[in-house]
Amino acid sequence: MHSPVRAAGTLLITDDRDDAALALFPDTLILGVSAMPPAHASAVVCHVALAASDAVDALETALAACRRRPDTPLIFVLRDDDPLSYAVANGLGATRILAADRAGSDWTRRLDLASSTFAAKRSAATPAGGAEAAVDTSTEAEAAAAVLASLFAAVTRRAPVAMADVERGATAVLRGIRDDLLGWIDVVRRYDDSTYQHCLLVAGFCAALSERIGFSGTRQHLLVQAALLHDIGKARVPLALLNKPGALTPAEATVVRRHPTDGYYMLAAQGDIPAVIREVVLHHHELLDGTGYPHGLRGARISEEVRLSTVCDVYAALVERRPYRQPMASRAAFDILVGMGGKLDTMLVAALSEMLEMPRAARLAGAC
Ligand SMILES: [Fe+2]
Ligand SMILES: [Fe+2]
Repeated sequence: MHSPVRAAGTLLITDDRDDAALALFPDTLILGVSAMPPAHASAVVCHVALAASDAVDALETALAACRRRPDTPLIFVLRDDDPLSYAVANGLGATRILAADRAGSDWTRRLDLASSTFAAKRSAATPAGGAEAAVDTSTEAEAAAAVLASLFAAVTRRAPVAMADVERGATAVLRGIRDDLLGWIDVVRRYDDSTYQHCLLVAGFCAALSERIGFSGTRQHLLVQAALLHDIGKARVPLALLNKPGALTPAEATVVRRHPTDGYYMLAAQGDIPAVIREVVLHHHELLDGTGYPHGLRGARISEEVRLSTVCDVYAALVERRPYRQPMASRAAFDILVGMGGKLDTMLVAALSEMLEMPRAARLAGAC
């Protein structure tokens, strides 16, 4: 196990007196065993079984007694990877949730990433304290858009996509959303090319949502690469169909609905595209109740990467700017996602909603 790196004042709350993480935190509280440390907490990490109601009650009491500011990061590391635990964590005010690590590897390494993200956000608000280089969202969006242009140009002339470019594009997206996801949305919506705008939005949402639910850095990077490429098959769809304002005829819809399989076969022919990227390209229109396409997959046959991409894809399609309509308001878009019920992963919809609506409310409050 590595040495602790988090800032003094980070409080670990656990329900396990043998929790290996106890040795890594300067301040700890074992529910039902030890007393709350007297010092203010600069961040709180909860490592508690949220499926057990008595543990949740004890945790709620501890959080109420904990000396912390309203904006103190509250991080949950789930012991059980289930919707109930996720919902309870959200209900207790989690600012970040890391999914349970079934592999049993050291989750505190992932927490270090979380801590550095929070540090970056704080330093952005206080310029004198910045440890990380400032990111220009517009520059990163331009870099990612240039990559998209080269990828779509390549497949249009039936050339392979360059994986080095895809990786570079994903890095630009991750940098672009790092401090300000809402700023990324504002910048990206200025792009007139609706396919680039859409792919940059989906990639940004995938980047932020996967981080929120605790993907490792490698898994997150691959997912963002997949998101950039997810609609690559649309390079073969006539622009007149992609930009058609009204409803598609059945024949036109058939052409548009070929883009997942077209994209998949383009990439599969190259031989160097990671399986998870090909899977997202092929299945991002599958729905959990089996009504999606091209294969009508159901539930457990749809991977977490695909579920996440689908939620981000549907939301992006609603809130993006099109020549013939204004973007839908975020709240109205989430009403539609929630109304889709069993078609989408409700846990992921809730997480995306919380991630976007809370900062939006804070931004509005700041503007008053
Ligand atoms: Fe698509
Ligand atoms: Fe899409």
